[in-house]
Amino acid sequence: MTENDPARLQKLKGLGFRLEYLREIDSTNQEAMRRAANGEPSGLVLLADHQTQGRGRLGRTWQAEPLSSLLASVLVKPEIAPASLGLVPIVSGLALAQAIEAAAHFQPGLVWPNDLFGAQGKIAGILVESIFEKSDLKFIVIGSGVNLAQKKADFPAEIRARASSLYEETGRLIAREDLLFAYLEKLSRGLGILEREGVRELVENYSGYDIIAGKEIRLLKGGEEIRGTALGIDSRGRLKVMIGGQELTFAAGEISMIRGRNDAAGY
Ligand code: BTN
Repeated sequence: MTENDPARLQKLKGLGFRLEYLREIDSTNQEAMRRAANGEPSGLVLLADHQTQGRGRLGRTWQAEPLSSLLASVLVKPEIAPASLGLVPIVSGLALAQAIEAAAHFQPGLVWPNDLFGAQGKIAGILVESIFEKSDLKFIVIGSGVNLAQKKADFPAEIRARASSLYEETGRLIAREDLLFAYLEKLSRGLGILEREGVRELVENYSGYDIIAGKEIRLLKGGEEIRGTALGIDSRGRLKVMIGGQELTFAAGEISMIRGRNDAAGY
């Protein structure tokens, strides 16, 4: 398939998406937010060859060599209740996991809320940013970075042990358009389920990829470190954790350590 395969572009249009290629940009999320501020309607998808100031969750940076990765942001305005906003990162992570499974025939694991892991480390991350006007939700920008072609040695030394790519996991190079189109289909479907308040279905689907459920985790929240056993997510996308016989839920934070398949999330 080529970048401009008309059948695929037509299908995207049917889903309400418009794809735009960028050779180089500071950050596709940043650009999507600028466009939104300048009146761009919902449905814009920006796909970049390279980002000079790629951004990650929790104030981190996201670096990738040109054309090594899928670097894309989607500008959407789902009709959802404010209480469902916490489920957008969950829907996005789930959609990307399903898309990777469909396009790469490889099932990644999800570490709450939406870090994607293979056996050798983190292969993808998602940054969801919301744009409010007064207290009204105007737009959501969903930015995804997927390591496609990197070898372990290509990653900066400080993240090498924790980073992986679809190439490292599968031995194959996945075309970024194949993955992007699969992702947009799954994302559109997931946001539709969210709009119809099909929360139970989303939570159930998410649990199929959740690799921390039942495991001992360490959650960093503010300056605090919380240890307990992860129990999956609740109907608002919050992480449930069993701590000393008591079940608590967390809306934010970072899993810094899990025992078992991986040692650490985040970069
Ligand atoms: C994370 O795991 O910390 C989230 C990483 C998100 C990176 C993507 S790359 C495309 C989009 N533009 C950005 O600046 N960030 C997201």
